Amino acid sequence: MKKILVIHGPNLNLLGKREPGIYGFKSIEEINKALIRIAKKNKVLLEIKQSDHEGNIVQLIGGSKGKFSAIIINPAAYTHTSIAIRDAILGVNIPTVEVHLSNIYAREEFRHKSLIAPVAKGQICGFGKNSYILALLAVIELLKNQTHALETTKYHKD
Ligand code: DQA
Repeated sequence: MKKILVIHGPNLNLLGKREPGIYGFKSIEEINKALIRIAKKNKVLLEIKQSDHEGNIVQLIGGSKGKFSAIIINPAAYTHTSIAIRDAILGVNIPTVEVHLSNIYAREEFRHKSLIAPVAKGQICGFGKNSYILALLAVIELLKNQTHALETTKYHKD
């Protein structure tokens, strides 16, 4: 079964209580439950981590090579500052989808720049909890297409 690594960055453990006008009332546990439900239905496995520490996130990404087929990450505030997380994603070369609950482009100017977006497969932002769900559905489609492409290649070789 394909495995997907989901990483929640700093302060996302506080979801539901943290600035609910911006981030909504759903807790991280509720978001994770919804993701696990969709993963089960689609026969993929999720490993879900939350960390407030940049170095931990770098290590999680660095250790994902060979274990995970894709990464979904909400780098939270590190989105706008972390060359280290960007380099880790480049280093492992695993398709990565960047997620934000809020629309970062409709907020303060310092949030308009993502250092992660240029190295991500894509970015989904502005849909609250559904940003994660849309990211997971996008990743599932991506992995299906990869498998299909592999099978087609095999078929042509035979
Ligand atoms: C966030 C947006 C970031 O700018 C912010 O620092 C966060 C959360 C979001 O999900 O909307 O912590 O990543």
